Amino acid sequence: MKEKLLNLLMECEDYISGEEIGERLGVSRAAVWKNINALRKDGYIIEAVTNKGYKLDKKSDVISPLQIEKSLNTRYMGRKIIYHETVTSTNDVCKEIADESPEGTAVTCDQQTGGKGRLGRVWKSPKGTGVWISIILKPDISPMSVSSVTLAAGLAVCRTVKKVSGLEAGIKWPNDVYVNGRKLCGILTEMSAQIEKVDYVIVGIGINANTEYFPEELENIACSLYTEACVKFDRNLIIKTLLEEFENIYDKFNMYGFSAIRSEYEKECINIGRRVNVISKDGFEGTAIGVNSDGELIVRKDTGEEITVFSGEVSIRNINQGGFI
Ligand code: BTN
Repeated sequence: MKEKLLNLLMECEDYISGEEIGERLGVSRAAVWKNINALRKDGYIIEAVTNKGYKLDKKSDVISPLQIEKSLNTRYMGRKIIYHETVTSTNDVCKEIADESPEGTAVTCDQQTGGKGRLGRVWKSPKGTGVWISIILKPDISPMSVSSVTLAAGLAVCRTVKKVSGLEAGIKWPNDVYVNGRKLCGILTEMSAQIEKVDYVIVGIGINANTEYFPEELENIACSLYTEACVKFDRNLIIKTLLEEFENIYDKFNMYGFSAIRSEYEKECINIGRRVNVISKDGFEGTAIGVNSDGELIVRKDTGEEITVFSGEVSIRNINQGGFI
């Protein structure tokens, strides 16, 4: 009932009376009133004027699968979107439903109480500020190739950010998206696999969209679309654009492998052509010169030797005249 009411309110450009809503949905006026309040609790702004009725403020900052699905131009990516106001982690919700869900199913939410980052870190996901979304994929690839799915997702985020905000975003290899030298988005990919075959991959994407302030310890390393553009962004539009961009890129990846998106990825990668510090057991410095057909970073040491760096192994930092960016 709540969804039908929301649909109806979305269609209406003007006020619609409680009576008319009741008639069109076949419910009592009391039920209409109860569900209007339920939508308000979800964050929708609904005006109520005596003798006129109800009107939805279309600018309500609420993530709405209905709204996304209406304009979504994809075949399978996000064709099923599950929304919860609060979850521990959208990746964990995906894990519970992955086996029986079709490829492209997405889980999103308004806040995560146990958001997970890479390397066991915490991903802060406060209410109403970001796009926290996980997508279930079922690629026919070996577990070894899964890291390049993450690179494909990074490329999709980068394009989405540029399209939606006009900001100059870039990918820090392998898959963080940066704007003005600070991290805007992180991706956590998890999978279930047999030795030779992947059962499913969950790509968890966290984009700081409308975060106004970061805690002191993150101030210099994290940013949001809001901190960089000084305007708030419609999270439904971000999700829609992301799903479309991702389907586009993932289709190519699925058909021809990472090499099909390699040059597009390289164009957006901020490390390439720059000095990097590879932080691993046998760490070294060099110049990043590209990525290979598996998405591994190719770093040329000062001796001329070229080393390929596998994303699971290391962190890299760009070296900027003595400092790191
Ligand atoms: C990182 O940069 O460390 C990766 C961060 C990934 C965060 C996203 S938010 C949606 C999904 N759910 C999670 O718990 N994590 C990912």
